[in-house]
Amino acid sequence: MTDVLRERVPAHVIVLGNEKGGSGKTTTAMHVIAYLLQSGFRVGSIDLDGRQRSLTRYVENRKAWAE
Ligand SMILES: Nc1ncnc2c1ncn2[C@@H]1O[C@H](COP(=O)(O)OP(=O)(O)OP(=O)(O)O)[C@@H](O)[C@H]1O
Ligand SMILES: [Mg+2]
Repeated sequence: MTDVLRERVPAHVIVLGNEKGGSGKTTTAMHVIAYLLQSGFRVGSIDLDGRQRSLTRYVENRKAWAE
């Protein structure tokens, strides 16, 4: 996708949820985020699991490793 086309794509909200614990929500979010970033999109993530913070810690760990 060209930069011009990408600028015209409106913001999307993707919600990953499931009532079942351990069903792969965080893992799926991680892959979706990585794919979109690799495709050149800007991505903001909100980790609604404030107790485990798995996605937040994944992002923090990747950032620390990259630095
Ligand atoms: N497609 C998959 N195939 C095999 N294993 C997977 C797959 N997706 C996730 N897993 C594994 O399943 C486990 C649970 O995944 P994950 O932590 O993403 O689930 P979750 O729904 O976010 O869990 P929680 O409810 O605790 O937040 C992890 O060990 C993960 O590596
Ligand atoms: Mg999770």
